[in-house]
Amino acid sequence: MNPFVGQTERDLARTVAEWSATLAERIPAAEKEGALPRDVIAELGRLGVLGMRVPEADGGLGTSAVAFVLVLEELAAAWPSLAVAVAVNSGIVAGSIVRYGTAEQRKRWLPRLMDGTGLGAFALTEVTSGSDAASLRTTARPDGGGWRIGGRKQFITNARYAPFAIVFARVGELDPKDSSAGITAFVVPLDASGVSIGSPERKHGLLASDTSALILDDVRVGHDAVLGGPGKGFGIAMTGLDGGRINIAAQSVGIARRALEVARAYAKQRTQFGRPIADFEGLRFRIAKAESDLAAARLLALRAAWLRDRGRPFTREAAMAKLYASEMAQRATHAAVQILGGNGYMRDYAVERYARDGRATTIYEGTSEIQRIVIARSLLAA
Ligand code: CAA
Repeated sequence: MNPFVGQTERDLARTVAEWSATLAERIPAAEKEGALPRDVIAELGRLGVLGMRVPEADGGLGTSAVAFVLVLEELAAAWPSLAVAVAVNSGIVAGSIVRYGTAEQRKRWLPRLMDGTGLGAFALTEVTSGSDAASLRTTARPDGGGWRIGGRKQFITNARYAPFAIVFARVGELDPKDSSAGITAFVVPLDASGVSIGSPERKHGLLASDTSALILDDVRVGHDAVLGGPGKGFGIAMTGLDGGRINIAAQSVGIARRALEVARAYAKQRTQFGRPIADFEGLRFRIAKAESDLAAARLLALRAAWLRDRGRPFTREAAMAKLYASEMAQRATHAAVQILGGNGYMRDYAVERYARDGRATTIYEGTSEIQRIVIARSLLAA
């Protein structure tokens, strides 16, 4: 019996906020090691966070998209590396299995995303296929009672922790006039023969979040590995990314919030020219603007999640939320570093880490440029 069933979603967000604040002392060692501690992942499972977006009938909490935004903001404020790992596992991966999985797939795979022993992965990107996701080259060919998958996926979050990945592969030849045709989603157990994980990438930020290549060398899976049917993969990826973009917006809000909190506290106690630097108008105006932008970004993320919870279209609103919130996070973390001055540039103060971590938010789950394309297409469609 999960302790949070029957409690309000706000209680869960508050509990996550209190728990994640206790992790602060562990962050430097974990970031240095480049890995999330296993017991932290296990605790996320115990708290129910890993199953927030899984219906109660499937063993999850079945909480709303709005609640997930609140929880991700708290996780990101505490530790951005942790927030992105949870967003991928519990958002895009769990959501895709819930939405497209057969009863058998849901029963087999959803518990693996919730039990705290690992975190799921979403394997779309390749060396030559980033923003142009439909150009992917990983192939799947029918083989007797199943499929053989070959290819190399790049920048895969959680790859080293994952019991399985949702792998997008092309069935049949590439049609240059319709490159998304034939793309199929497969649930691939990462202990299957022919699967290997590349060395962890050496990143600018999010150092405790795993980002590795996933190599598929003639990996055999059964027909039961196909998610949603052959040829349905591109729609599954795009639908997953629509939701994922709300979650990256929430992550951006958490990162910006914490950086600005640190900057405000610093500005009140740091004295120069005989008074706290918080008295200087240049700084006051900067903080006033950054906090206003932060509030707007949070509302955009909540609006997209609210639409999603009501079953209404939210593709454009998710892209707007991600675009605005991620770019807001750049300005906010930049301002925080500036307010701390020389100290802001030093690793002893968290703001430089928040600035590095936040940098990824305008890139993954679709760059700002891709969000603008999605927004403009939806506004200007014939
Ligand atoms: N929902 C459902 N279906 C959608 C959709 C959506 N939001 N957007 C497009 N589709 C469908 C279209 O309807 C179309 O279907 P039909 O062929 O049946 O008509 C099909 O997909 C192709 O659509 P487009 O012609 O619009 O496709 P495109 O090739 O022009 O690409 C794109 C559109 C928006 C640029 C897309 O490629 C894209 O989002 N690129 C960015 C990729 C991305 O975000 N990558 C992130 C990697 S994952 C990650 O970062 C996770 C992590 O670990 C942190």
